[in-house]
Amino acid sequence: MLVLGIESSCDETAAAIVADGAEIRSSVVASQILTHAKYGGVVPELASREHLRKIGPVVEEACQRARLGVRDVDGIAVTEGPGLVGSLLVGLVYGKALAHALAKPLVGVNHLEGHIHAVLLEDKMNHLAGRREEEAQLPAVTLVVSGGHTSLFLVEERRSPSNSHPIVFHYTRLGKTRDDAAGEAFDKVARLLALGYPGGPMIDQLARSGDAQAVDFGRIKMKGNPLDFSFSGLKTAVLYRVRGTPLALEAQERRAWRQARERVSSDELRAHCSQATLDLIASFQNAVVHDLVERALAAANAARVDSIFVSGGVASNSLLRARCEEASRAQGVRLRFPSPALCTDNAAMIAAAGYYKLKAGQLADATLTAHASLPLGT
Ligand code: KG4
Ligand code: ZN
Repeated sequence: MLVLGIESSCDETAAAIVADGAEIRSSVVASQILTHAKYGGVVPELASREHLRKIGPVVEEACQRARLGVRDVDGIAVTEGPGLVGSLLVGLVYGKALAHALAKPLVGVNHLEGHIHAVLLEDKMNHLAGRREEEAQLPAVTLVVSGGHTSLFLVEERRSPSNSHPIVFHYTRLGKTRDDAAGEAFDKVARLLALGYPGGPMIDQLARSGDAQAVDFGRIKMKGNPLDFSFSGLKTAVLYRVRGTPLALEAQERRAWRQARERVSSDELRAHCSQATLDLIASFQNAVVHDLVERALAAANAARVDSIFVSGGVASNSLLRARCEEASRAQGVRLRFPSPALCTDNAAMIAAAGYYKLKAGQLADATLTAHASLPLGT
């Protein structure tokens, strides 16, 4: 079954064609980073306009790269939420209109479900190509960690009662952030220190030159659900360490230097950072990663599963990957990360999640619409 996936929930316009939820025939992502970088974050109105400009060409390119016409697909999967409503609507209305015009079945996919399926999709691809002997195990605890979300889910698969074959996935939310998402914290700290947008990849690079033990941010203790997250206090703690100090002046100078340049490499930026700034960056990253790893392993323990998936933009963070590997090995837990291209927003993950919905007959009707907040699971 060939599924066309369409994703436009934030600042990437993406389309992909995936066969049987297991083989990426094409995956096209048009990033809007340069549009938003000068504002230090995503500007919703600009994002919608960019999606409108790009959605048609991106879908066309996905078909061309897969060497097929849009009529050849067996179904269409679109992201219905959560995300920016104006952005979501562009992909959703496009997918809906296409499905209607071509008389193809349509399914709505939760963006977070897409991130979870990025892991399963890549795992299936690796397994089919003989690169991995053992398939990912469900039930699993999944940490979805991105610019908009930081949540832990228990993911289980169940056979659909309506049909003997299709698999239906069941999600139970075990924890979530009470304020900022981890990626949002990376982006806000990067903005404060004039490191550019998005901040995560740059902090990841620069932190390698800093001392992660230089600043002790203490531990974040959660009242109530111990599997919840909170990152806004950490972000404020960084702010207090910068405001009114030489680091603020340094950031101001960096901002002025950056303004004249469209793209700045991490090496160039490193040369414009003092050791104290690099130490602060490394310590901040260390604190975020520590919390993510600790909660993910605690969730696996609490849910009594021995399989952990980590997905979403922040899952490409090199320290998070290394620490998760170490901790999982020590705890005897199987760990899966998608490759970086499937960690950040893409439409292959939407097509993969949509495949199971199409198989299970969970079709959308004309009432399908975009939702800024759309909780996943129970
Ligand atoms: O999944 P994604 O593309 O979009 C959302 O659904 O939010 O994630 C984007 C987020 C941004 O906040 C970005 O700074 C962060 O992922 N990110 C990273 C890294 N690469 C992207 N954060 C930390 N380290 C990275 N290497
Ligand atoms: Zn995302």
